Amino acid sequence: MSSTPALRTSPDFSTPFSRRFGLRLPLVQGPMAGGPTTPALVAAVSNAGGLGFLAGAALAPEKIASEVAAIRALTDKPFGVNLFVLDPANPDEATVRRALEAIDPVAAQHGLPPGEALARYAPDFRAQLDAVIELRVPVVSFTFGLLAKADVARLHAAGSYVMGTATHVAEAIAWRDAGADAIVAQGAEAGGHRGTFIGEAPHALIGTMALVPQLVDAVDAPGAVGLPVLAAGGIMDGRGIVAALALGAQGVQMGTAFLGSAESAIPADWKARLRASTDTATSVTRAITGRHARGIRNPLMQQLEARPETVAPYPVQNALTQPLRQRAARENDGDYLSLWSGQGAPLSRTREAGLGAAQIVAALDAEWRAVSGKLPGKLSHDA
Ligand SMILES: Cc1cc2nc3c(=O)[nH]c(=O)nc-3n(C[C@H](O)[C@H](O)[C@H](O)COP(=O)(O)O)c2cc1C
Repeated sequence: MSSTPALRTSPDFSTPFSRRFGLRLPLVQGPMAGGPTTPALVAAVSNAGGLGFLAGAALAPEKIASEVAAIRALTDKPFGVNLFVLDPANPDEATVRRALEAIDPVAAQHGLPPGEALARYAPDFRAQLDAVIELRVPVVSFTFGLLAKADVARLHAAGSYVMGTATHVAEAIAWRDAGADAIVAQGAEAGGHRGTFIGEAPHALIGTMALVPQLVDAVDAPGAVGLPVLAAGGIMDGRGIVAALALGAQGVQMGTAFLGSAESAIPADWKARLRASTDTATSVTRAITGRHARGIRNPLMQQLEARPETVAPYPVQNALTQPLRQRAARENDGDYLSLWSGQGAPLSRTREAGLGAAQIVAALDAEWRAVSGKLPGKLSHDA
């Protein structure tokens, strides 16, 4: 049996992770590629006492640099940048042709020309990593893969704190062994892409409630100087934060809760569908990008899922479906966007629509302090 400690009093409600970055509450705003995590959002969260996070995966190195400069102009507080660990994609002709056989007819319904093979399917990961190292970003996190120890060491030499995403125990241990400073425990409830990089993604859909204590026992067991675990997936309010800390997490990473914020630059129809969603509205699919991801079901997901054998691996499928999704973004047409969202989306209805990120952080802070205060013993991670 693991020696989980009882909840103990913490006069200032902090955890070692939140203290390290001087956070008012143990909250990381999840990096979200595809528009949500603007510099304004990242800086608003950091200024309000959480840790704001820029999604850098879809950005060219120069764009990462300009976004980081924009964040630094808006806050002097710590923030993070997130990247996807990806090898260069060199798909054979048949893979691209097969994928387009299913994508082209959907694109044609919207007046788009047939797709073609591309010179590049995603920004070059090595160049992105070099850029982030040069920028000396306070926190850098990764998903989709594992960094080599030497790369983690380069980030440490640049003064960056390194976090790796894990969807099960073996991935958390791999990140610990690579030298990571903290683990993001991505439960099955989470919106967006699954980070799984060991084994099959459908086998790694472990709910946050089951995942967090298993990762804590693996890398942050009580009494040991371990790696902080941050719980991600399904956390939408103060109750969720307290529950995650009770499971041994030192903080939470919340994405969906910030998707509808005023600073999140996603189409209005996506925000409307989030608020109109129900607990059964999302599915995990690989049909849109070639990598499993959770989002609200819509005609785009349903039509592409009809031909599973044609789906190319990420990032090829992602790039080939992009014109279709860009048109949908221009037209504010949620039927053909990738509506990435977590299972907790309906809980966003408990807040006023279009709140600023700072107001959301303030509400979360009040909520989790109130819930913590009602528990028989307050929460602490102090040994
Ligand atoms: C629209 C969207 C895009 C996301 N993009 C990324 C990303 O680029 N990198 C990453 O590590 N996680 C990404 N995530 C996951 C979030 O950072 C966070 O871990 C997750 O949203 C937590 O679960 P929740 O959605 O239930 O709050 C994304 C999530 C969403 C909803």
